[in-house]
Amino acid sequence: MKYRAVVAMLGACIVPLCCVAAEVAPAASSGADTLSVIYARKSVRHYTGVAATKDQLETLLKAGMAAPTAVDRRPWAFVVVTDKKILNALADGLPYSKMIVQAGAAIIVCGDLNKALPGEGQAFWVQDCSAATQNILLAAQALGLGAVWTGMYPSSERVNFVQQALGIPKEVIPLNIIAVGHPVGDEKPKDKFDPVNIHWEKW
Ligand SMILES: Cc1cc2nc3c(=O)[nH]c(=O)nc-3n(C[C@H](O)[C@H](O)[C@H](O)COP(=O)(O)O)c2cc1C
Repeated sequence: MKYRAVVAMLGACIVPLCCVAAEVAPAASSGADTLSVIYARKSVRHYTGVAATKDQLETLLKAGMAAPTAVDRRPWAFVVVTDKKILNALADGLPYSKMIVQAGAAIIVCGDLNKALPGEGQAFWVQDCSAATQNILLAAQALGLGAVWTGMYPSSERVNFVQQALGIPKEVIPLNIIAVGHPVGDEKPKDKFDPVNIHWEKW
């Protein structure tokens, strides 16, 4: 066989192999990245005062809406607040969410009961919106931002306050307020792994 024909034949074999390798390699490395982001995540309550950009906030919302939901109902709604006056008004009424002012942005993750499953399944909205929340927290970590989940539901006092402050309808329930901003760097992730919590095969 002529040299050129051999090169062409080898090329035909190698090119598809390279494509396969290129498809496999990013998946393998993004797996490792995902785990490091999960282990590095921590609640951030101290912020530099430099706010996240709109692009960054949109990335977080996209990550939130990538979460799984029961019967794929996606019973969520997100209110994003960056206005200092509104952040201050929220912080004034919410003693455990005061960090939103320094963070510069807050995402209120809500369950919309109009979109939730009927009957007993309605309660799945809490799990659906919690999955979205965790995605947002992890995405913030991946972007080098800091975030913390501050709980609203099931405190009716906090839910009513947030609904009133932001004009949210009664059937849309704020599950939490996530503070988002640039971390000062004070907080470190905790190692919470404890084999005592694991039961293999049976309790
Ligand atoms: C349902 C829920 C409600 C929370 N509420 C608040 C809150 O109101 N204020 C706050 O500073 N942190 C709040 N947190 C954050 C927890 O305090 C934090 O996740 C916990 O201490 C573990 O620390 P880590 O997130 O750094 O791993 C809440 C977390 C969850 C899941």
